[in-house]
Amino acid sequence: SDQPLVLGIETSCDETGVGIVRGETLLVDAIASSVDEHARFGGVVPEVASRAHLEAMVPTIERACATAGVSLRDLDAVAVTSGPGLAGALMVGVASAKALALSLGVPLYGVNHLASHVAVDIVEHGPLPEPTLALLVSGGHSSLLLVPDVTHDVRSLGSTIDDAAGEAFDKVARVLGLPFPGGPHIDRAARDGQVVIDFPRGLTQGRDMERHRFDFSFSGLKTAVSRWVQAREAAGEPVPVADVAASFQEAVTDVLTRKAVLACRENGVENLQIGGGVAANSRLRAMAQERCDAAGIELRVPRPGLCTDNGAMVAALGAQMVLKGRPASDLSLPADSSMPV
Ligand code: KG4
Ligand code: ZN
Repeated sequence: SDQPLVLGIETSCDETGVGIVRGETLLVDAIASSVDEHARFGGVVPEVASRAHLEAMVPTIERACATAGVSLRDLDAVAVTSGPGLAGALMVGVASAKALALSLGVPLYGVNHLASHVAVDIVEHGPLPEPTLALLVSGGHSSLLLVPDVTHDVRSLGSTIDDAAGEAFDKVARVLGLPFPGGPHIDRAARDGQVVIDFPRGLTQGRDMERHRFDFSFSGLKTAVSRWVQAREAAGEPVPVADVAASFQEAVTDVLTRKAVLACRENGVENLQIGGGVAANSRLRAMAQERCDAAGIELRVPRPGLCTDNGAMVAALGAQMVLKGRPASDLSLPADSSMPV
């Protein structure tokens, strides 16, 4: 095949991801996660994540190659997340990718983590419409991106001014006594509940909305949920976990989808892509579909395994860089924990 064979490495948080694509076709997405090691701390511990990446890197690369039936010598390029993310975690990925690229004599492509969350949809649903509007919602970020070209022109329209959407799910889950990471547990609990509590929708009204049109705020919502639960407990009444979960989830997904659709309208964009771990949320998917249908917007959401952090997204963006003739990185490529899009 004349399509480039690209291996991508992702280590920005707690997943060691190694993906291999040929052109716009996904061959394998291998992953090793340290999430269980962080669970007892209620959040990702950077030092634990870095050590886990170090231990998992070589076995995960070997597993990816074996599953895809490719030899390292067949690779045309190596791509790696160079930021944003946890500094020590990123360093393991960047150092590994440099070693691989140098020893194989192939180009190295450092990519932005947020851009690669968008690019992954190419291996799922085909070429991205240009421009695309992307809503990225995970434990570390909540952003609305306008994407004229995913390889070099990704613009942030807004992002969270406090907690990320996934972080809000995780914190509220803790308040409700559900395990970490809490998103999937809230999603499940909410299925048996009713939306009966009117929790606040941050930055959606008046001057807040004017000043933060495409920004998000979830810390006020989290506080409102904890106050509500505490009041119940103080009164000696049982906490209706399913109803609280459903009402909280409704507030988050309402704000996310409302602002995403508005951003599409105001930028004349007719397609929306949702990515990041929170894109696995069943209510978010359903509400986004309803609102996009009503607004004549085409919705693209990759399968859940490609929404959460993974190596395929890095390989997918790396392959686009090769296909579009973007310049490769040199061996001074940094791990940039606060890299902007
Ligand atoms: O993208 P991701 O795997 O890692 C980063 O944070 O970058 O996202 C993880 C986040 C966690 O906060 C988790 O609670 C949330 O995604 N999440 C969900 C669901 N599945 C995962 N949130 C809501 N509903 C879900 N079904
Ligand atoms: Zn991510």
